[in-house]
Amino acid sequence: MTTEPNLAHHRPQWKTHIGFVLAAVGSAIGLGNIWRFSYLCYKNGGGAFLIPYLIALFVVGIPLMIMEIALGHKMRGSAPASFASISKKWEWLGWWQIIFVMFGIVLYYSVVIAWCLNFLFFSFNLSWGTDPNNFFFQDFLMLKQTPFDIGDVRSPIILSLLVVWILNWLIVFMGVREGLERANKIFMPLLFALTGVIIFWGLKLPGAMEGIKVYLRPDFSRLSDIRVWMDAFSQIFFTLSLGFGIMIAYASYLPKKAAIVRDSLVISCINCSFSLFAGFGVFAVLGYMAKTTGQPINSVVRESIGLAFVAFPKAISLLPHFSKLFGILFFGSLVIAGLSSSISIIEAFTSGIVDKFHYKRKTVVSVLSVLGFIGGIIFATQSGLLWLDIVDHFLTQYGLVIGGIFECFLIGWIYKTVKLRMHVNRYSDWKIGKWWSFCTRVVVPVALMILLISSFKTELKTPYGGYSWLALVLIGRDWLLVTLYMAIIVASHPWRLEPSERMIK
Ligand code: TRP
Repeated sequence: MTTEPNLAHHRPQWKTHIGFVLAAVGSAIGLGNIWRFSYLCYKNGGGAFLIPYLIALFVVGIPLMIMEIALGHKMRGSAPASFASISKKWEWLGWWQIIFVMFGIVLYYSVVIAWCLNFLFFSFNLSWGTDPNNFFFQDFLMLKQTPFDIGDVRSPIILSLLVVWILNWLIVFMGVREGLERANKIFMPLLFALTGVIIFWGLKLPGAMEGIKVYLRPDFSRLSDIRVWMDAFSQIFFTLSLGFGIMIAYASYLPKKAAIVRDSLVISCINCSFSLFAGFGVFAVLGYMAKTTGQPINSVVRESIGLAFVAFPKAISLLPHFSKLFGILFFGSLVIAGLSSSISIIEAFTSGIVDKFHYKRKTVVSVLSVLGFIGGIIFATQSGLLWLDIVDHFLTQYGLVIGGIFECFLIGWIYKTVKLRMHVNRYSDWKIGKWWSFCTRVVVPVALMILLISSFKTELKTPYGGYSWLALVLIGRDWLLVTLYMAIIVASHPWRLEPSERMIK
C-alpha cells in the first residue's frame, strides 16, 4: 500500500492572515529599500523619479504580484511545482529562479547582512574613526584590485556570516508558522519602530531640510533619459521580490479563502511607502552632515554600499548626542530588513525541494544553510566586494528580468491569463478585470524586453564596472549559465506525486 496520494495534504499553512502579509512584506522590504531607493531617487531627478517609479509599480509591480500570489494560491506549490502543473516543459524556469536566487543573490546578500552585523558592533565605540572610507575598504574589507586576486578570507566577516546563517537556519528550521510567521511578526513592527525613530531623530537635526529638498526636488528633465526608466523598473522588480519564486511559495501556504488582490496591493504599497519614508531618514542625516562639514550635499551622497558603510558612519560620528545608539539602531534595522528577506528565499527553495523530492523539510533547511554559508565564503574574501558587484549585476539585471519575461509568457500565453483571472475572481474578495490580463500578457513582457535590450546594449558598449571581460564572462554570465544547467538537470527528474494533484480546481 502506498501513502503517496496523501503527500499533498501535508502542506503547511499560515496561522493568521496578517502573518502571511507580514512575511511577504518582510521579504519585500530589504536592504534595497533603505539604501538603493533613496540613492536612485536622488540620482534620477529627485521627486520626479517618483513618476516612473509609481508607473512601474502600477504597471509591472502590482500586476505581477497578483500573478505570483494567484499562481501559488491556485497551484498550492512552490515555483517549480506551480510551473510544472502548467507544463512540465517549463518546470526548469521555476528551478532556475529559485536556484540562482538561493545560490547567487542570497549568498552575497547574507555577506552584506554580515557586514551590517559587524558595523552594529563597531557602533559601540565608533571604530571607523575619522576616515570611514579608508576604514571600510582598507581595514575592514582589505579590498584587492581585481576579482581573481582573491587573497584571504576576512575573519571578522566570516564570523558574522556564520551568525547570519545560524539565524537564517534557526528561523526557517522552525517552520512556516513557528519560524517565518513568528519571526516576521516580531521583525516587521520592530523595523518600523526603529526606522520611525531614525527618521524622527534625523528630521530634528540642523540641515535636515536641506537634505530632504535635495532628495525630493523634482527635475522633470531627467524623465527623458531612458536610464531613469530602466532604474525604476528594475528597482520595482527587485524590491517586490518578483521573479524570485518567493511570493509563489508564500502564497501556496494560504488557505482556500484568500484576499489575493487586496493583499497584493497592500504588500506592494507598504513596501514602496517604506522606501519613501526611509529616504527621509537617509537624506535628513546627509543634510546634517553637509551642514556640519560645510560641504555641498552632492559631495556627501553615496551609492548603496558607500552610503551605508561610508557616508552613514561618518554622519554618525558627527552626531552631537547618543551617536553610538544611532549607529546601533541604523545597523540593527539593516540586519532585520536583510534577514527577513534572506529567510524568504530559503523557504521558497526548501518548498521546491520538498514538493518534488519529499525529503524531510528540516533536513533540507539544514543542508541548505550549510551550503549557503560555504557558498558565501568567496564573498567574504578580500576580493569579495568585486565578486558581489559582478554577480549582483548579472543576476538582477539579467536573471530576474529574463525569468520574468518567461514567467509572463508561460502564464499569459501558454496557461492563459483568463484561467488565473477566473480563479482570482472566484476566491478573492476584490476582483480583477481585463486590464490585468492585458498587463501581464503584453505590457509587462514588453516593458521587460525593453529593459533587457537596453541593459544588453549598454553592456556591449562598455564592460560593466570597468572589470575585465574575462571576469565578467566567467563570474557573471557563467553564474547564470551554470544555475540554468543545474535547473534543467533537477527538472528532468521524475515527480513522485504529479504536481497538478495539489492544485485548487
Ligand atoms: N526585496 C529585497 C530588497 O529590496 C531583496 C530581496 C527579496 C532578497 N527577496 C530576497 C534578497 C531574497 C535576497 C534573498 O532588498
